[in-house]
Amino acid sequence: MSLIKFSCMTSLLFVTAFAAAAPNRNTDKPAPPAPEALHEKLAQISQDPARLSAAIQRGQKDAAVCRHCHGAGGNSVLPEVPNLASQNAAYLLEQMNKFVQGQRKSSAFMEGMIKALTPDERIAIALFLSQQPLAHKPAAAHSAAGKRLYDKLCISCHGASGTGTHMIPRLAGQQAVYLEGSLKRYRSGNGERIDPRMAAYTRNLKDADIRSLAAYLTTLQP
Ligand code: HEC
Ligand code: HEC
Repeated sequence: MSLIKFSCMTSLLFVTAFAAAAPNRNTDKPAPPAPEALHEKLAQISQDPARLSAAIQRGQKDAAVCRHCHGAGGNSVLPEVPNLASQNAAYLLEQMNKFVQGQRKSSAFMEGMIKALTPDERIAIALFLSQQPLAHKPAAAHSAAGKRLYDKLCISCHGASGTGTHMIPRLAGQQAVYLEGSLKRYRSGNGERIDPRMAAYTRNLKDADIRSLAAYLTTLQP
């Protein structure tokens, strides 16, 4: 871990130094690509089998450092760390962009790691992880109450099988503790996770509702 910490610190320093120098240097360095341009590139690569397999290979290498928390192939074994395996590539890219732009908050360590990636590395990692199989958990505690709530409130966006699409995240098989924490963040409006749709759909949820939703979704196996 100490090696990663060191490289992360280095990249944080680099980012800070660059940001400080940016106003005087804007003629030397091109502006970072807009998120829309990155999403277009990701879509183009996805449609081209040769570029896709090259990106996935590159993404596998670039994502090696993420395994320490997100697990091998993006299958997390830590309750508070999300699975990234089989997550939609566009959503993964969007969330990395949000960390970079300060529109989503995590630990400084995690944010620093994402900021150290180039835009092309972000795209390659998103494509690699989206193709990794999700390790299924045994469906121990199916929550009927969670299913009722999900079918009523969430299905229209996240889909009957909980796989989402494009920038709507997959929820099926996600870590329960992470799901609960994320729903509470949207509900609290404290700025750690900002999305007007999710704010609206979590506003009236009670803690018990959030618990049953998470219990249902973690065991959902499409
Ligand atoms: C030190 C542990 C750690 C490392 C290393 C780490 N992450 Fe994370 N990551 C987290 C945690 C914890 C979260 C949950 C953040 C939150 O919402 O609070 C997260 C969330 C994410 C998310 C959002 C997932 C979602 O479902 O919304 C993405 C994408 C992500 N990480 C990508 C990466 C990538 C890519 C790397 C490697 C370059 C990486 N992470 C390395 C701990 C880590
Ligand atoms: C109108 C569409 C819509 C509806 C309805 C909706 N969601 Fe979402 N949900 C989204 C979008 C878009 C995101 C990504 C937001 C972001 O960027 O943070 C999201 C994100 C999430 C996340 C974060 C996933 C992750 O990997 O971090 C969870 C958990 C979630 N939704 C659960 C729910 C639940 C439970 C419901 C029903 C109570 C629900 N959603 C209803 C659109 C919706």
